[in-house]
Amino acid sequence: MPAPVRRKLLFACLSLTALALVLTGTALAGAGRAYPPAGSPNAGGIRDLYWVVLGVTGVIFVIVEGALILFVVRFRNRGRARSAEGPQIRGHTRLELIWTAIPVLILAGIITVVFYKLPGIKDVPAAGAAGPKMTVQVEGRQFYWRYTYPNGAVSINELVVPAQRPIYLVVTAPSFDVIHSWWVPELAGKMDAIPGKTNHTWFEAQSPGIYQGQCAEFCGIEHAMMLTHVRAVPNGEYESWVARQLHVSANIGRMTFEGACAPCHGLQGEGIIGPALKGNATIANPEQLRKLLANGKGKMPPVGNGWTPKELASLTAYLKQEFAGGG
Ligand code: CUA
Repeated sequence: MPAPVRRKLLFACLSLTALALVLTGTALAGAGRAYPPAGSPNAGGIRDLYWVVLGVTGVIFVIVEGALILFVVRFRNRGRARSAEGPQIRGHTRLELIWTAIPVLILAGIITVVFYKLPGIKDVPAAGAAGPKMTVQVEGRQFYWRYTYPNGAVSINELVVPAQRPIYLVVTAPSFDVIHSWWVPELAGKMDAIPGKTNHTWFEAQSPGIYQGQCAEFCGIEHAMMLTHVRAVPNGEYESWVARQLHVSANIGRMTFEGACAPCHGLQGEGIIGPALKGNATIANPEQLRKLLANGKGKMPPVGNGWTPKELASLTAYLKQEFAGGG
């Protein structure tokens, strides 16, 4: 005896599907768009591939779901006994060949387009409208991004670049760290930062502006706080910024504190996962602070391992100024 049709279950499934479709509209409105943004030529290539795959799968979806609905209506029960059997068909060589060949051709088509587009996504151009390609070292760390520029200057979480110049990124993570993933969707695809391995990617910001990004590989308790952004500026502005960035300054100190310390100790040093910083004895002692940053302690990762003396001096001065007094 076949099971009775569960109309209530069917109705619930259909209602949930309808609700999901309604909410999709809201999600799209919130994101402002239904497709990946493209502020760089390689991100444009990724977006083109997105449209191709969405188009092909969209057509397949409509055909398959259309046929499904047609068959549900056309061959409905019509009062026959639920135990009645339909005609038994066994084997149909031509039909089987067709439904094997068509998916193979569809996949071959998608692969062809992908390989056609791939050089434009992977290969970094030698120069852009505003100048030649520039290399930046990218280090993923628990829980911040550290950028090293051609002149040796360093920045934390904020990557400042000249617009309309190809930026070649050499992406890695220190041997004692974990895997992260550098991702600024508007500029390029994800690239993993893996301890002991060096990966490469690139982008060329088409216009000045701020491009938001986020670590895209779960890397520990403060993964969600591991934000980054690219600030693209005119070439001249970049040159003077990167020259300034070579000197010990309160600006670098604050940038380092907000990127490397604040996710665990709080923006006001109030303490979240890490202890509160106000009046902390280590802060008043540069040598102890240097050792703590270089080696970590307990749950604290060695955030300052490998930092330049200038970075350390900038941070030490900033911490002293902000938190040493009043303890
Ligand atoms: Cu770094 Cu997630």
